[in-house]
Amino acid sequence: MSHQATENATELLHAADGVERAITLLRAGALVAVPTETVYGLAADASNPLAVAKIFTAKGRPANHPLIVHLGQMSQLADWAVDIPAEAYLLAQAFWPGPLTLLLNKAPKVSDVVTGGKQTIGLRLPAHPLLLQILQQSGLAVAAPSANPYKKLSPTSAEQVLAGLNGKIAAVLDGGDCQVGLESTIVDLSGGQVQVLRAGPVSAAELEAVLGVPITTPQSHNVAVPGNVKAHYQPSKPLQMFSRNQLLKLLPAAQDVILICHSHDVANNYKGTILRLASEKTAYARALYRTLFQADSLAGSQIWLEQPPQEPAWADVNDRLARACHP
Ligand code: TXA
Ligand code: MG
Repeated sequence: MSHQATENATELLHAADGVERAITLLRAGALVAVPTETVYGLAADASNPLAVAKIFTAKGRPANHPLIVHLGQMSQLADWAVDIPAEAYLLAQAFWPGPLTLLLNKAPKVSDVVTGGKQTIGLRLPAHPLLLQILQQSGLAVAAPSANPYKKLSPTSAEQVLAGLNGKIAAVLDGGDCQVGLESTIVDLSGGQVQVLRAGPVSAAELEAVLGVPITTPQSHNVAVPGNVKAHYQPSKPLQMFSRNQLLKLLPAAQDVILICHSHDVANNYKGTILRLASEKTAYARALYRTLFQADSLAGSQIWLEQPPQEPAWADVNDRLARACHP
């Protein structure tokens, strides 16, 4: 059996020096995983199609799934998009830097490799200081999906990036644990009607408050977002979701189960392994992927999760969990 040339180890970069090294690697067309406030992204120079193509190989992601391009300045919007409506600037001013992606009509120069052949492009200005430093010092824009193998959980720490992509990417820049913990809200401004295509940390109510018009959120966001397949964001162990009442009945007889819950009485009814989440939404979202990663690494054959509140403010959490659960 013949072996390929040995894969290079992935460099682990830290703060000050790491920013310089990340810029050098990105300019050379290499892949660098970078921290954002939502999840870690797998970045490539968005103006270099050969570099961007490597993202799909490293992740095992289908080529028609478009990528979000990350900017360091709002003024770069016009480099990447055309026919930009006034709403885009209103939302950018209100929420950038932050977890909001604007879907706009792409500028002619944007490579099909970035947009998966679509005529639209997702753009966002992220809030992590290290990534902003990379973007602003270099003037680059980077295409970056979440830094996980296709369909797996999105990483919220450098260690989680390495767990999935070690040896497949040039480097990861350690920026600590992500503050938000769930992927950005995607809002479509490319057509007539403003629509949320992926629920996220910026809620539809917050968008409405800025724009002064009602904004629709499709029940499931597979409309026009090819990357949003039903099974996604999955831990390796089977994950099942139960209501609090169901758990109170089932737990006394449960075996080999890792329980993830946010209610005291649920936790009090189980003698096995328990991982607790906060009952407040922001803290819950921040810890969710990390907790699912942790559950995967513990002894136990399955994960049971207490269903979070079914309320509009929890739309992003419920959306991701619906995809994370095994059918
Ligand atoms: O918070 C985030 O958005 C993170 C960080 C790294 O910025 N990124 C992220 O990227 O979640 P990704 O590729 O894992 O998810 C982006 C989603 C995909 O489902 C993709 O199909 C969709 O956005 N998307 C991107 N550009 C699009 C476009 N032009 N039209 C429709 N959907 C698009
Ligand atoms: Mg992703």
